Amino acid sequence: MPTRHDLTLLLLISACACAPVLAPSAWAEPLRPVSAHTAKRVELPMLPGLARGAQVAKPVPADGYAGSEACATCHEDKATSLASTQHGRAGNPRTPAATQGCESCHGPGKAHAEAGGGIGVGGIVNPSKLLPQRASETCTSCHDRGTHALWSGSQHDQRNVGCVTCHSVHAPKGERQIKAASQMELCGTCHKNIVNRQHRFTHMPVREGKVECTSCHNPHGSANVKLLRVGTTVDDSCTSCHSEKRGPHLWEHAPVANACVTCHNPHGSNNERLLEAKLPYLCQRCHVTSRHPPTVYDGFVMRNSQNANKIISRGCVNCHQQIHGSNAPSGQFFLR
Ligand code: HEC
Ligand code: HEC
Ligand code: HEC
Ligand code: HEC
Ligand code: HEC
Ligand code: HEC
Ligand code: HEC
Ligand code: HEC
Ligand code: HEC
Ligand code: HEC
Repeated sequence: MPTRHDLTLLLLISACACAPVLAPSAWAEPLRPVSAHTAKRVELPMLPGLARGAQVAKPVPADGYAGSEACATCHEDKATSLASTQHGRAGNPRTPAATQGCESCHGPGKAHAEAGGGIGVGGIVNPSKLLPQRASETCTSCHDRGTHALWSGSQHDQRNVGCVTCHSVHAPKGERQIKAASQMELCGTCHKNIVNRQHRFTHMPVREGKVECTSCHNPHGSANVKLLRVGTTVDDSCTSCHSEKRGPHLWEHAPVANACVTCHNPHGSNNERLLEAKLPYLCQRCHVTSRHPPTVYDGFVMRNSQNANKIISRGCVNCHQQIHGSNAPSGQFFLR
């Protein structure tokens, strides 16, 4: 079944002079490198006159369209700002510049232009005045594949956070045309509690710029929980970078196989190693009933037995070094 987006897409395509080049399957897969296979598809018999890399012919405005040059006579600043971004690159056949120009996003504007322009005149569309979900449809007419395939109905889409909530087409401030100078600032406008955790004593190197919010999350939707970019579980996400912690191990430590976030807080913590609690308390959240070791409340045992050493320094992991699981034949207690 074609979705509404596909239909919009087809309409856009059929209204465009270079239509045959834009087979929907070759459309907008931003992050995936173009394979030799798809590259061939784009270039095959459709463009007999065009050599590889040649300039794509200027689109002829269709009915109801004025063409970008007409718009630029009154909105020169917008034309300039667009030209400085990827959307303005006519060499890429999928950009607005190579298709309907301004009108790829603002809709047919002949009536608006001929009436001399004006707010709301001629049915011209201003995406920032639309409901977020409607505005996003403008964008998903092109950006509906690859990293954006799961946008529709995703957490942000559902809660009225749209493409133009985070991105600006004409006046972006940060990389990837986001509206703030950095991701910390952008995401922090709504997720302040999370961003604040970055200032705790240990944290993922987000603050230093080595990892970004979007290293772990895909704000455009995902198949995992909590918009996590990779995999289908929290652990899949963590072990996509920390692969040495990935099981299966000969001896599994139950909570590790379950979820890294039982012990670590990925956004930051005031304990070593992003731990949710200090050692040995972290372990004692679960291992309190064990005969070994004592808790801090077992004052007598602590003072009078060799068990005292079990809660000093790095505590339990002084000995239980392979806390994430062991592959040693006798690694049952994660000592080796
Ligand atoms: C004859 C001059 C003129 C032409 C040509 C023109 N506009 Fe406008 N446009 C205006 C004026 C004046 C406004 C009122 C707002 C302003 O002053 O910026 C406006 C407003 C807009 C708005 C905001 C509408 C709103 O309701 O908030 C958009 C979007 C827009 N134009 C896009 C376009 C596009 C796309 C084209 C080309 C198809 C175009 N304009 C052609 C003069 C023009
Ligand atoms: C990729 C989609 C896209 C293209 C292409 C595009 N615009 Fe826009 N335009 C937007 C969005 C989104 C906004 C809302 C403000 C923003 O995001 O920067 C906007 C806002 C505007 C406004 C209103 C600004 C205001 O003050 O409210 C005008 C006028 C405008 N665009 C004109 C143009 C002209 C002229 C072109 C072609 C040179 C063009 N746009 C191409 C998406 C686009
Ligand atoms: C006519 C098709 C089309 C439409 C409509 C469109 N885009 Fe794009 N956009 C592209 C293409 C093509 C690129 C270049 C990257 C690529 O090839 O995927 C791009 C790139 C981008 C980028 C990446 C910029 C960068 O610096 O890496 C962002 C962000 C973006 N678009 C946002 C939007 C938003 C927001 C809207 C809606 C207001 C929108 N686009 C509408 C085709 C489109
Ligand atoms: C919650 C904020 C947010 C929303 C909502 C959002 N984006 Fe993004 N977008 C980002 C950030 C941050 C990046 C840079 C990191 C990355 O590449 O994921 C980005 C990157 C991009 C890119 C370039 C990288 C890529 O994945 O191709 C495009 C294109 C893009 N966004 C388009 C869109 C479109 C279209 C929508 C609406 C369907 C949208 N964005 C909604 C924050 C957002
Ligand atoms: C190292 C990976 C990683 C990084 C970097 C990261 N997150 Fe997360 N985030 C996660 C994981 C894993 C969860 C799920 C936690 C859970 O289920 O307890 C999560 C959950 C969330 C949630 C949902 C919180 C809730 O209580 O449901 C938000 C919002 C969030 N992150 C925003 C951000 C922002 C904003 C940034 C950048 C400052 C960021 N994240 C950086 C891994 C990360
Ligand atoms: C305009 C506000 C806004 C911005 C900006 C924003 N978000 Fe969100 N985000 C939301 C809302 C609203 C939800 C839904 C929360 C809920 O359902 O409890 C959400 C949910 C999330 C979730 C959790 C999803 C879940 O399943 O619980 C993550 C992760 C997240 N956002 C990451 C990000 C990242 C990363 C950025 C920056 C690139 C960002 N957000 C920017 C408003 C925003
Ligand atoms: C995008 C890659 C990436 C993902 C995904 C990721 N990490 Fe990290 N992690 C890093 C990097 C980079 C460091 C810093 C390593 C360094 O500084 O040597 C780090 C460091 C750590 C540290 C050590 C912190 C310290 O103070 O020494 C812990 C613990 C950690 N990550 C746990 C997690 C958990 C739990 C998850 C899943 C929620 C996760 N990581 C997901 C890249 C990632
Ligand atoms: C039972 C609690 C617990 C769980 C669950 C857990 N960890 Fe850890 N992790 C620790 C402790 C304790 C340390 C500190 C070890 C030390 O200081 O020697 C640590 C240290 C780390 C470190 C930094 C030092 C190193 O060994 O590289 C990383 C990275 C890490 N864990 C990743 C993960 C990942 C990924 C997962 C999920 C697959 C995970 N952890 C699950 C308790 C846990
Ligand atoms: C979320 C609860 C939880 C936390 C926190 C936790 N563990 Fe465990 N641990 C378990 C469970 C469940 C088992 C499996 C027990 C079994 O198989 O009888 C286990 C098994 C063990 C075993 C092997 C015991 C055996 O009889 O095979 C050792 C050793 C161990 N944990 C040490 C630690 C240490 C050290 C820490 C702190 C770094 C820690 N655990 C944190 C739940 C936890
Ligand atoms: C001085 C080294 C050492 C320290 C420190 C240590 N352990 Fe152990 N642990 C062992 C050894 C050795 C075993 C093997 C079984 C045995 O001989 O009791 C063991 C076994 C265990 C077992 C499985 C057997 C049982 O008794 O249930 C658990 C659970 C355990 N330790 C948890 C902990 C926790 C939690 C801490 C930190 C509070 C800790 N250990 C600190 C050496 C240590």
